[in-house]
Amino acid sequence: MFFKQIESGGDRNYAYLIACEETKEGALVDPSPDPLKVIKVVNKEEVEIKYIINTHSHFDHSGGNDYFRRIEMGKPVTFINCGEDTKITDGLVLNLGKLILEFIHTPGHTADSICIKVKNKLITGDTLFVGKIGGTYSEEDARMEFESLKKIMKLPPDTEVWPGHNYGIKPSSSIGFELTSNPFIKRLSNFNEFLWLKKNWIQYKYEHGIK
Ligand SMILES: [Fe+2]
Repeated sequence: MFFKQIESGGDRNYAYLIACEETKEGALVDPSPDPLKVIKVVNKEEVEIKYIINTHSHFDHSGGNDYFRRIEMGKPVTFINCGEDTKITDGLVLNLGKLILEFIHTPGHTADSICIKVKNKLITGDTLFVGKIGGTYSEEDARMEFESLKKIMKLPPDTEVWPGHNYGIKPSSSIGFELTSNPFIKRLSNFNEFLWLKKNWIQYKYEHGIK
């Protein structure tokens, strides 16, 4: 498997290129907000893009789609997300050459948030960052995010976590690392404590020296 994290502009956004090394078929995840930074990597690796996948509909993750709709990518590209394009459902599996992509619906940050698992790597979008989690706008959304995080935390501890932004102390981590160090994940046994931390996050960060 070829797997590359790409700094794609915006607010420390990350795009991802996943490809099957045998067939050279590839998928781009969140090639936004600056698609030109992403296309440079695609051209260098001589990968044929088959899918463009969005972890959620926020513009900094999906705004680059229009660029890829306009340019000639070789064979037709399929756009995959929980929004207006190919609707994906929880548990959907797709073949990418000899690789298998698995989709996990993780609503909360947005209703259409998904995580993508390939081998032992999990692309988490804005659901989970290194040491942090995605923002929510209501208690109801926070409850959904709480349940979604519980779902992905059941994956094996050595599953790698590849987030949608570089907000943490390192570019990627693992489920095991998040279980022992992420203050939100440590509160997944009690929704009120989880919600308290969301509401008091700025103060908590200041008191604990978190940037
Ligand atoms: Fe977002």
